[in-house]
Amino acid sequence: MTPGRILLTQEQIRARVRELGGSITRHYRGRRPIFLGVMNGALFFLADLLRAVDLDDTEISCVGLASYAGTKSTGKLRGLDALGKSFRGRHVLIVDDIFDTGRTLSALAARLKKLGAAEVKICVLLEKRRRHEVAVKPEWVGFKIADEFVVGYGLDYEGRYRGLRQVRVLDPKGKIYRQLTPDGELPP
Ligand code: IMP
Ligand code: MG
Repeated sequence: MTPGRILLTQEQIRARVRELGGSITRHYRGRRPIFLGVMNGALFFLADLLRAVDLDDTEISCVGLASYAGTKSTGKLRGLDALGKSFRGRHVLIVDDIFDTGRTLSALAARLKKLGAAEVKICVLLEKRRRHEVAVKPEWVGFKIADEFVVGYGLDYEGRYRGLRQVRVLDPKGKIYRQLTPDGELPP
């Protein structure tokens, strides 16, 4: 299992994140949103998105959620109980790497509502084209992609490949790369 074909280049990601930042800025202008990053997958996306958002009064928070084992969702979500801060009356934007079945973000959104959030919206870098198993939908989606397992730009396979600069499709028969170049790219 190694990173294969490039799905999204650094330039494509950068340009789209800029657009999302503009749209999110317009939505929250005059308000005081909390950006809630879902760790670890949202690490790069959250940081890049925040730099593309032009709002003075924002709060940033993170929650660690996990449901995957290898390339399969286990359906069991761990980490929701650790939501520490007060969300009562707040406008929360959940930021995550990918909307797959949607179960993770739907459970998180439901919990935030229960904690009294005034508004809960979702922004994801990627959404898989598949039958989502939940009623919630992300308001902001960077890219809709095929139902393939992807890694890079925060997305992992068993904890690996998060540091890749691009989003790549996981290749089950790919060559094993033991080392990345100093720029974090795969060797040619
Ligand atoms: P969902 O609950 O099925 O929507 O799963 C969402 C979570 O599963 C994401 O936050 C990711 O951590 C993980 N995930 C789903 N698809 C992929 C993928 O293609 N690559 C890496 N992680 C994925
Ligand atoms: Mg995740």
